[in-house]
Amino acid sequence: MLQLKIRILLSLCFLIAASYAVRSQVIHIETGNTSLVYGVYGNKVKQVHYGSRLTSTAGIDGLSTAFDEVYPSFGNGSSNEVALIATHDDGTMATDLVYQSHKQQLEGNIQTTTIQLKDEKKPFFVELNFKAYQAENVIEQWVTIRHTEKKPVRLEQFASTAIGFKAESYYLTHFYGSWAKEMQLAEEKLNNGIKLIETKRGVRATEYENPSFVLSLNQKASDYCGEVVMGALAWSGNFRLAFQVEDKENCQLIAGINPFASDYLLAPKEEFTTPRMVLTYSNTGKNQGSINLHRWARTYNLQDGNQVRPIVLNSWEGTYFKFDAAKLKSMMDGAAEMGVEIFVLDDGWFGNKYPRNSDKAGLGDWQVNQQKLPNGIGDLIDHAESKGLKFGIWVEPEMVNPKSELAEKHPEWIIQRKNDREPLLERSQLLLDLSNPKVQDFVFGVVDNILTDNPRIVYVKWDANRHIQNFGSTFLGDDKQSHLWIDYTKGLESVLARLNKKYPDIIFQACASGGGRLDYGALKYTHEFWASDDTDPFERLFIQWGSNHIYPAIATAAHITKSPNHQTGRDTPLKFRCDMAMGGRLGLELSPADLSPEDISYVKQVLETYKANREIIQFGDLYRLNSPYDSDGYAAISYVTAQKDKAIIMAYCHDFHRRDERSVIRFQGLEENAVYKITELNSKAKRSKVNETGKEISGSILMNRGLMFDMKKPYESVVLKLEKVR
Ligand code: GLA
Repeated sequence: MLQLKIRILLSLCFLIAASYAVRSQVIHIETGNTSLVYGVYGNKVKQVHYGSRLTSTAGIDGLSTAFDEVYPSFGNGSSNEVALIATHDDGTMATDLVYQSHKQQLEGNIQTTTIQLKDEKKPFFVELNFKAYQAENVIEQWVTIRHTEKKPVRLEQFASTAIGFKAESYYLTHFYGSWAKEMQLAEEKLNNGIKLIETKRGVRATEYENPSFVLSLNQKASDYCGEVVMGALAWSGNFRLAFQVEDKENCQLIAGINPFASDYLLAPKEEFTTPRMVLTYSNTGKNQGSINLHRWARTYNLQDGNQVRPIVLNSWEGTYFKFDAAKLKSMMDGAAEMGVEIFVLDDGWFGNKYPRNSDKAGLGDWQVNQQKLPNGIGDLIDHAESKGLKFGIWVEPEMVNPKSELAEKHPEWIIQRKNDREPLLERSQLLLDLSNPKVQDFVFGVVDNILTDNPRIVYVKWDANRHIQNFGSTFLGDDKQSHLWIDYTKGLESVLARLNKKYPDIIFQACASGGGRLDYGALKYTHEFWASDDTDPFERLFIQWGSNHIYPAIATAAHITKSPNHQTGRDTPLKFRCDMAMGGRLGLELSPADLSPEDISYVKQVLETYKANREIIQFGDLYRLNSPYDSDGYAAISYVTAQKDKAIIMAYCHDFHRRDERSVIRFQGLEENAVYKITELNSKAKRSKVNETGKEISGSILMNRGLMFDMKKPYESVVLKLEKVR
């Protein structure tokens, strides 16, 4: 740490001297352990290195490079994939970007760099922006494009980053899925050609692919060895990550907004800003990459990432659309008895002319349903507060059922194909046109009204249950229809930013039919994401495993539900369900009346335990110990505090094992010479499944030899706590 501080000081002196320099041959973007270096070759900026930190750059200006230009553009002579395609005011399509200047500055933990490029001939400017987070080893990159040509310029491609890698071989891990099966991990070797990770769905953009990746160099990704680059695009709309391998020894990633049907007319002096691409590099495997991203996210890309998250009971699986005030109050009573902190009322509470009693009607009419809740939300909040609970509410303000007063009143606000084409319904609903500032005001107003009418609400679950499909806007001009994909997402961001500003204390959850809006764009404005509508703990082993490669536990809503599970029908023990929810922001998704008195008292204990230990999980570093994808039928993760004085280990068995088979789990991230006392949490059995429970054992033994876990049947699980005693 001291070394890092000295280094920051030294480079600060150097950078102040170098700032505003007109020209330099080397642009060194650096963090504590990583370097991204560009060189100015003639008037072209090219990448020289991305990887381990270069402690000295002596001689680097003489190095040749195999990488393409820093921001390759169409028309510069290259026939590779490009970051930029633009049609200029005179109809010409060639752009050739040359170096103008750059500037760097180090302020505290963040080194900022801007590189100014200009087209060789036209007044067309590209600014490359970087933020390098010293302690977290994360680099963000985004691009600003502007011009002073005589007429608008048509942008046809506008990536956030173009970055190169050099290795013998490349293994790409990406996260795919569908509703109720998000963030499944797939790893493949890249061969010559282009591999695309993308979506063209506009909204609920991460349901099928996530805009994130792990690229492992020279070998398959491993958690604790090897070089990996990990990244995520901070954008809730269409994305495209294009990995191009050429002659095996050169891999280039061009990533950003998906240019698919998204031509963008940029008027003179207007600015087009791309979303941020977030990158990290590790030479000790992907686990460190995850830690880097999680630490960075908690400090810089999550609402209140340094604040403890409360335990939520969400009403959806407990009562769906079928409730009245009495039912909700009895759920609150049970929730309060178990130690829940916030009761969240999900879908079904609004609509009068068209009551929201199913997903077929009422969406858009955000007035309390008089039949179900004649005394309004205030009455529910009174009851919650009388039981010591806070109150939260579900909204889906971007959407509308055709059967709603809103659709009758404002058909022009709906995204539509025009020419009397049939609206394409998804979950019986349509989408409001967030490119329209009036619609932005309406969507803001929906939440604003609810929160002003009910100032005691503390939590908002923001849902979004369809894709765009009916492509067409009545607001955007004929020449700007293709702006819709981008302006929709920018409209959404601006509404969320307004809400954050006006309601800094409200906790926001990003949900889109489960994990359909899991990206660092949405997380910038929210506190957490609903990882999946699939609450089966066996499925969650994989969903949370994938999600937490990139996104942190503190933001991962993981709820205990009833068994058999509503999505899969699988029967699992309550302990397994609780132990799985422990791995994230624990909550519940059930009606307490459906639990037996014994179950209630067990859950009560679990909630107490979670409260006593949640800081370790929510702020700790994730260490993956055993992958659910391995064929051994076990999975395990752990969270370790930054001081390495406490850890929570969670081990799960998901297959049958032979009578004598025991799983040996080696821990990670502890202090070698410290001695840890071991206690079991959430235990139900008389005898611990780990013989060493209650003993004091060195970090060295725990990490190098490991402990034996006597788990043989599917859905057995063990949670241990380690506390440093000396
Ligand atoms: C989506 C969400 C669920 C629930 C329902 C309500 O499917 O993912 O959690 O809120 O909508 O209609």
